[in-house]
Amino acid sequence: MSLEEKIGQLNQLNGLFFQDDVESVLTGPGQQLGLTEEDIRLTGSILGTAGAKPLMEIQKSYMETQPHHIPMLFMMDVIHGMRTIFPLPLGLGATFDPELAEKCAAVAAKEAAVAGLHATFSPMSDLVRDARWGRVMESTGEDPYLNSLFTAAQVRGFQGESRAKGQPYEPYKICACVKHFAGYGGAEAGREYNTVELCEHTFREFYLKAYQAGIDAGVDMVMTSFNTINGIPATTNQPLMRDILRGEMGFRGVLISDYSAILETIAHGYSEDGAHAAENGLRAGVDIDMMTGLYSNYLAKLIQDGTLEESLLDECVMRVLELKNNLGLFEHPYKDADPEKESEFLLCPEHRALARETAAKSFVLLKNDGVLPLDLNQKIAFIGPYTDRKQIISSWALTGEATDSCTIREAASEVFNPERTTYLPGSPVLDPSYILVGFREDDNTSSDITPQQQKEMLLEAVEAAKAADLVIMPLGEHYLQSGEATSRAMIDIPDVQMELFREVTKVNDNVVVVLFNGRPLDLREVSQKARAILDVWMPGTEGGHAIIDVLTGKVNPSGKLTMSFPYCVGQVPVYYNCNSTGRPELPNQVLRFKSRYLDIPNAPLYPFGYGLSYTTFALSPVRLEAEGAEAHSLTADGKLQAKVTLQNTGTTAGTEVVQLYLQDVSASVVRPVKELKGFRKVSLEPGESCEVCFDIDESMLRFLRADGTVGSEPGVFRVWVANDSASGEAAEFTLV
Ligand code: BGC
Repeated sequence: MSLEEKIGQLNQLNGLFFQDDVESVLTGPGQQLGLTEEDIRLTGSILGTAGAKPLMEIQKSYMETQPHHIPMLFMMDVIHGMRTIFPLPLGLGATFDPELAEKCAAVAAKEAAVAGLHATFSPMSDLVRDARWGRVMESTGEDPYLNSLFTAAQVRGFQGESRAKGQPYEPYKICACVKHFAGYGGAEAGREYNTVELCEHTFREFYLKAYQAGIDAGVDMVMTSFNTINGIPATTNQPLMRDILRGEMGFRGVLISDYSAILETIAHGYSEDGAHAAENGLRAGVDIDMMTGLYSNYLAKLIQDGTLEESLLDECVMRVLELKNNLGLFEHPYKDADPEKESEFLLCPEHRALARETAAKSFVLLKNDGVLPLDLNQKIAFIGPYTDRKQIISSWALTGEATDSCTIREAASEVFNPERTTYLPGSPVLDPSYILVGFREDDNTSSDITPQQQKEMLLEAVEAAKAADLVIMPLGEHYLQSGEATSRAMIDIPDVQMELFREVTKVNDNVVVVLFNGRPLDLREVSQKARAILDVWMPGTEGGHAIIDVLTGKVNPSGKLTMSFPYCVGQVPVYYNCNSTGRPELPNQVLRFKSRYLDIPNAPLYPFGYGLSYTTFALSPVRLEAEGAEAHSLTADGKLQAKVTLQNTGTTAGTEVVQLYLQDVSASVVRPVKELKGFRKVSLEPGESCEVCFDIDESMLRFLRADGTVGSEPGVFRVWVANDSASGEAAEFTLV
């Protein structure tokens, strides 16, 4: 291959560059990136275009001029579903069911594959702790252990079994991409693209874990992140990419930059100009440059004048070709692209059924003082802008169509008595003056509502609320308020909806809030005034059905929060697995000079692991046993069992997520107050009980020690088996 042909393999552009009208491309995006017709012709991969027909056409004309029969790679953000949209990842995490996430990824892969795609930029494995950061919706939350399980499950779901064994991809499987390496979730003050300051210990012990799980599961692609690590942009950070990612973590696949991240190293003040940025990118071993053209513009010259060794380029090209080979593209350049199967598989009933099941399992019942499940004999008013809204699929559902969604009203109409049920929006989602910009279009759907119409909507809603026995209020964030570049300093339900909520709760005491959100919100007022709150995230295509399934009790909610809901925004970042402080706030003590706020509690409003059911569960105190007898010490090669009896003490069947937490009481580095180490989802009939047992061995007690090695240290450990991170009585054992 010539130098230019090799460099082309590392260049990634969007589909606009491959439309028929080359002329307009070269005066448009091509010119902006300084690319020639030849650069575009040699480009090795495309992002952001889907559809069997268009992609097959692009591949066909590409292969006609490709000198070495090297096909093109097609990638896209298939984040929580391709056309059948599942709940957003923070909701998926709340299922506490990685196997279910694997199934969803497999369905997404199947739909994506027949639509011509070869790779997705998913899963996002970033650890998140700050609800102001809009991308928390794309993570499975604040726990490294849980994130690791979900990352690995999704990699398996996308890439399939044979790839996990190191063999080529099976049909209907696509390459996954663990992102954003590394530490992107640590943006200071939750402000998107902001500086990340993480000490080495925190970075390695907490932030790297889930990426590592993806690598261990055999992920073929990793994406760089926009932030700096140790003062150097991650994308061009050689120690991070070469020593940590490829050296220590053992990643062998393709490293792709995030969108224009190589170019952004100039704005960071790290690279002097485009040539320098391209040089830095290649030196860090970034194999694919997403959407800047810098590699095409500068690498040939940098290699010819001796600044860069050609072997650095060859190494990257080889990795890209290996991926194409593993995907089977040399033999089958279209892979699974198939317009007929595309219309058969996308949104097929089986996929919709999985979306409905997953959505219902992702919902978290935050409060319920007896009003749920609904008594359908009541007069019920649905009042809120999400009552009949199709856009419940999130801003990261790029390949989804909101019009496919089933709304709450549509689903309710299938089961509610039309004579006793009313449906009203009550308000727009946002104040009409609030403008939000999406990926594809401005979404300012409320801007055409006049103040007079708004007033009338409110009055009509209040009248309906007065006449109803119970009001269901589907409220929440606009879908463009969470996702990329959606940091919020106020994590509230939009004002216009809170006004509606206040007016409705003045005239009706029985209000149930169905909350749509991509992040933890400040729910103080809602939690005081509503009798029940069901968090449904952005539930996806089958959201309406799933919500009605849960509200009516057809499905008993079992979701648990994977990110703490702060008491208020001043508390963030707030996460359950924080380090012990020297002056902890303890019950029954004088509170002066303690690690606490004067004006708010330390505890979040709803902690990690929390979520109610329509039934109640009792957990016995935890018992520690070894070989059938009570035991409180563990040897390096021994095993302890933490046992509890779980009983369904209510009147309906339900599922509880029983959670195991451990704390290393004293160690060579300060350890978290507790850490999730295991969980079980247990379903019980009313009155039924069972024993839930967790094995504890030395490997679960390991951490990054003060001397930089990973291992355990003898001493005392605490154990909780509980139904959230804030409850339960601890037992103790000693590692000898
Ligand atoms: C995001 C990535 C995404 C990429 C391609 C970037 O702006 O940070 O997560 O995969 O765009 O769409």
